[in-house]
Amino acid sequence: MKYDSIIVGGGIIGLGIGWRASQLGLSVLVLDRDDPPSAASTVAAGMLAPVTETTFGEDLLLRLNLQSARRWPGFAEELSLTSGINLADHPRGIMHIALDRDQSESLSRLFEHQQELGLEVQWLSSMACRRLEPGLHPSTRAGILAGGDWAVNPRRVLEALRIALTAAGGQVRHGSEVAQVSGGSVRLVTGEVLTAEQVVVAAGSWSGLIAGVPAYLTKALRPVKGQILRLRSTAATPVPLNHTLRTEDVYLVPRPDGEVVAGATMEEKGFDTTSTAGGIFELLRAADELLPGIREMELIEVAAGLRPGTVDNAPILGTIEPGLVIATGHYRNGVLLAPVTADGIAELLAKGDLPAELAGFGPGRFGG
Ligand code: GLY
Repeated sequence: MKYDSIIVGGGIIGLGIGWRASQLGLSVLVLDRDDPPSAASTVAAGMLAPVTETTFGEDLLLRLNLQSARRWPGFAEELSLTSGINLADHPRGIMHIALDRDQSESLSRLFEHQQELGLEVQWLSSMACRRLEPGLHPSTRAGILAGGDWAVNPRRVLEALRIALTAAGGQVRHGSEVAQVSGGSVRLVTGEVLTAEQVVVAAGSWSGLIAGVPAYLTKALRPVKGQILRLRSTAATPVPLNHTLRTEDVYLVPRPDGEVVAGATMEEKGFDTTSTAGGIFELLRAADELLPGIREMELIEVAAGLRPGTVDNAPILGTIEPGLVIATGHYRNGVLLAPVTADGIAELLAKGDLPAELAGFGPGRFGG
């Protein structure tokens, strides 16, 4: 069978594109290398934090991040309705905390920048921080509250996307590693060849390793390792958190079920996904400096994932050659950028045009 679209990659980006493309009436097959899935999305904390993570000099990316953040409530609601999996129950608001004078000064520069950009932020005194989050370390000096930033649980999003994709008529094949792509065809490592009108490479950090992806894109991509750990409040020692918290060294993302994800290291170690004592130690130390109560929490998981980084920190979205499209390079913002990527690439597949909001993120900026 010849599909309209074959999507290489079963993470949030690949499944999101597949879901939206199926809704537009295309026949879709998503190929996932792993069984069970092990995409970066299974490790990610799921912060939807365009305001908190504002970086100096990345205004074009900020606009895309904000655009996608605006779509998340509708995206989550639609997925929740279709799948029966509640995705919208996360606490709203992210607090960026300074724990000493240096951090407070750099936070105040960030706050000024966020205000200049017209972002929704509020400066918090030490007392205001501790009123909102009583478990914060007594040395907390100040904070920024980004009231519109929040988070989702990416594992639940993946589950919901698989259900929604299937309900819309799409298919997913796990354990299908792709060796080579070209305009209109995919060759698996087993030698099997599958054909489609359009092939989309959405394999995160691995996208550049697939034969047929041009060298100028392989060069632009690199994996950036992130180690995380998952903690859980016990009934005897609850650590209630009303917001996601972050410092310059760690973030703590509370889930409605009492789980807290602490992340994440930033390591340039190629494709290594080992959890190391040093990495976990650094995270725990930074988390303890922020919220001492974490010492009493149950440690339930350590894991590492690979962010698909690019040389300009922005995603690579668009057509490489007729019949071959790429959607990767989402770096620290894969979960956040899922809605705008899914909508935009599905539109490209169905109508042949990339929507205006994705202009500026095409593969052509790296060569070709
Ligand atoms: N977006 C958070 C991270 O990449 O660690």
